Amino acid sequence: MIGKYRFGTPFATDAIVRECALSKGALPRFRVEEKEGNVLFSYTLDKKDCVFGLGEQVRGINKRGWLYVSYNEDDPEIYESRTSLYGSHNFILVSGKETFGVFFDTAGKVTFDVGYTDSDELVVTARDVDVYLIEEESALEIVHTFRGLIGRSYIPPKWAFGFGQSKWGYKNETDIREVYEGFEKNNMPLDMIYMDIDYMQDYKDFSVNKERFPDLPALSAELKEKGVYLVPIIDAAIKEEKGYTVYEECLKGGYYCTDAQGKPYTVAVWPGESLLPDVLDPASRHWFGSQYKTLLDMGIEGFWNDMNEPAIFYSPGRLAQAIDYVASVKGQNLDTHAYNKVMGAVTSLHNSPEDYAGLHHKIGGKRVSHEKVHNLYGYNMTRGASEYFAEYAPDRRYLLFSRSSYIGAHRYGGIWTGDNGSWWSHLKLNVAQMPGMDMCGFLFTGADLGGHGWDTTEDLMLRWLAFGIFTPLMRNHATYWVRPQECYVFKNKDAFRNILGMRYSLLPYLYSEFVRAALNNRMLFKPLCFEYTQDERARTVEDQLLVGDSLMIAPVVEQNAEGRYVYLPERMKLIRMKAGDRYSESVLEKGEYYIPVALDEVVFFLREGKVLPLAKPAKNVKSLDEDHLSWIKFISEETTYDVCRDDGFTLSALEKSFMRYTLKP
Ligand code: NOJ
Repeated sequence: MIGKYRFGTPFATDAIVRECALSKGALPRFRVEEKEGNVLFSYTLDKKDCVFGLGEQVRGINKRGWLYVSYNEDDPEIYESRTSLYGSHNFILVSGKETFGVFFDTAGKVTFDVGYTDSDELVVTARDVDVYLIEEESALEIVHTFRGLIGRSYIPPKWAFGFGQSKWGYKNETDIREVYEGFEKNNMPLDMIYMDIDYMQDYKDFSVNKERFPDLPALSAELKEKGVYLVPIIDAAIKEEKGYTVYEECLKGGYYCTDAQGKPYTVAVWPGESLLPDVLDPASRHWFGSQYKTLLDMGIEGFWNDMNEPAIFYSPGRLAQAIDYVASVKGQNLDTHAYNKVMGAVTSLHNSPEDYAGLHHKIGGKRVSHEKVHNLYGYNMTRGASEYFAEYAPDRRYLLFSRSSYIGAHRYGGIWTGDNGSWWSHLKLNVAQMPGMDMCGFLFTGADLGGHGWDTTEDLMLRWLAFGIFTPLMRNHATYWVRPQECYVFKNKDAFRNILGMRYSLLPYLYSEFVRAALNNRMLFKPLCFEYTQDERARTVEDQLLVGDSLMIAPVVEQNAEGRYVYLPERMKLIRMKAGDRYSESVLEKGEYYIPVALDEVVFFLREGKVLPLAKPAKNVKSLDEDHLSWIKFISEETTYDVCRDDGFTLSALEKSFMRYTLKP
């Protein structure tokens, strides 16, 4: 059951796909008050209530005890003090004495004080917002109803479920070939090599540096033949440069964000001074989407959209002011306050609220300040690309994922969780983020495995991969300044080869579960308590997840750990996998266990009454042999399992593509 309540005059976000009439009367359950132009929604939490949701956010699965801000933020320093990340996913689920879901649909900023100021109070602050209250019998049904409201999740092509290698700094064809050969020589599987901004000419979107990549279409075709796809990055901002066709077209068509008077608003990102396409305006969005054609025509079938919060390094006007200010204190003896002011003048240039306020969009014939619709930018960049793909090749699935997002973007692409660090705490964060993102429709997600910032270590990389083999987007990516972390650079190559191989063995299951979850508006990653609803202990588990219908995982997320404690909410079969085709199994009763897990193995659990299809480890998705599956079973009676055997790239064939297997005990 869905109730809809309106406060103020919200902008259309297009987050929902089903028309929903306004409900009569006041919003139930919440105390509503207005304060300084904001609306405050307060709810008193019971001591044992948990609050789930918020999609890609910081902290644990249960969000209680912290402050979360929905204001898409580009900031690679993800410390424990952070309150926001790259996406705004304003759906929460209160579970306990009462269980209900609420979606705060607004393009602007929202804060969720989930027992941060007063440990028993949930206070949500927003303005101009549609509030959807969802009431069903269980958490899973609430999520299902919510997902029906926001529409079907994006489903990428099947090859995108393979393993991808990435690093900012692969600067030319030779570097790309070196990565390919690194995997090939070491007999490690690979489906994608990502191309970061280095492939572009002077960081210009939809351009290719001809010296460094003399024939990208040929390279792409050659690698694709071998089962490996090239996936270039696309940034939001368009370099201002006379003669650069994309810029010239943008100017001529008036497809750019403006200042309050309607003049082009210059911001600086990687290429220096640039324009931001006004992706909130349908014509500009379509124009921006159509630019992907350049790369599609070269045979590229996958993209990652970046810097689309949008990130602004500086605007020329404010930079000039900062420089003048710094120059004005030259020669002075600065005390700590004066020194901090100098520092602040420079560091505050990045993503400044003043620039966001100055930037304007065309919405419904009016000029609207960006700060009011900030959270919709990345969403609409991705939407533009996806809508264009549907024109370019109807019914074909392309790989597309974005850094910034809002609910609604889940219909057009996936997301990755941005610039994490090579920290054990971020591996743990990655585990905790999965169910929240699923609740909000973002099924095709994953983090930079091994960590993006700071140097990684072999043990962290292995443990992260051991979790990453379960995440739909499985990509090892790192920033420019850190040491190489391609799987073949480490000492224990067998361990890397085997763990990567397990991903491919598990693919018939992971892919089938993913497609089913997307088609049926269900979660792929569930907190334990969503299934074991009467189990109090399950409510406290923050680092174990159910993956699909058959499996529970309990990744090792601590440095130097030789295993970990695991809670089994029911009798399960422990699977200890050394390689996709080498594993042992043993049955454990419900309870708490210390389970040793070596660095070169993966341990997971098969639920009672369930089965798991397994393929032989493969070189890539293309060569995966799904005609000869083996099964791990934990059943006492005949059971069926439906494996998704579609062509891997069209949309319309998906629903009819499941092959039923009947398994005997
Ligand atoms: C920021 C992205 O989050 C990161 O993944 C990428 O490597 C850099 N931009 C450079 O493009």
